Amino acid sequence: TPRGGHGGLPLPARDDLGYAANFLWQAFGAEPAPEVVRAFEVSLVLYAEHSFNASTFTARVVTSTLADLHSAVTAAVGALKGPLHGGANEAVWDVFEEVGTGPGAPERARAWVREALAAHRRVMGFGHRVYRDGDSRVPTMRAALRELAAHLDRPDVLELYDALEGAVAGAKGIRPNLDFPSGPAYHLIGFDTPVFTPIFVAARVTGWTAHVREQRAANSLIRPLSAYDGPAERHLAR
Ligand code: COA
Repeated sequence: TPRGGHGGLPLPARDDLGYAANFLWQAFGAEPAPEVVRAFEVSLVLYAEHSFNASTFTARVVTSTLADLHSAVTAAVGALKGPLHGGANEAVWDVFEEVGTGPGAPERARAWVREALAAHRRVMGFGHRVYRDGDSRVPTMRAALRELAAHLDRPDVLELYDALEGAVAGAKGIRPNLDFPSGPAYHLIGFDTPVFTPIFVAARVTGWTAHVREQRAANSLIRPLSAYDGPAERHLAR
């Protein structure tokens, strides 16, 4: 991600900008338009906390052993980076790039989804373990993406968004999760794809640390049992 005007060194934060605007200022070295700040802020708020998802649960487990905050957060980062969790926002934009926006995008999107599902591949940015009837965060982020795309005059991105959403819904009845609108929004804001998931981390660290404090305040070691489901007795071969 380009960082302008400071010889590649971090720019000092500005007191006159909010968190989201400061983040963009420090990342790009230019003052962001209010429409861009708004879309970014909405994504950060929606990513900030989401109950017992895999990374938050990881942070709770580590904290429950009375390990320190840094260990809990670094373990949570490891859980979040996987493509079935936070890594999905990067994978979503990869699909947009593979299919390509512009003329013929809806047909290409339908063909791409058909092929992916025929090969039993998961389409990133769709489905959710908890939300069976659509992710309640999506309409807010979809609206933010719409405003961002209008500001940047990029209706082609929204057209492909709708085409992919329609194709997956038509074929499998599966709805998008938050990573589906966030991926293209981060691209339009100007971030390189490999920083999408680290941005998710920058937002979710809020939720993780709140959970760590809560766990510490009423701690009990998290230690599940597993139910063995194999042969009752096996004899060793000599
Ligand atoms: N693409 C294609 N098929 C999907 C799918 C997806 N994104 N998500 C679920 N399915 C399919 C499963 O393959 C399964 O199909 P089958 O019954 O024909 O085998 C069916 O939908 C039910 O899936 P289920 O196992 O109940 O979903 P899950 O709760 O295990 O999965 C996720 C939840 C998030 C792991 C899953 O939806 C997924 O892999 N999504 C893509 C990654 C992603 O966007 N992660 C971010 C989550 S916020």
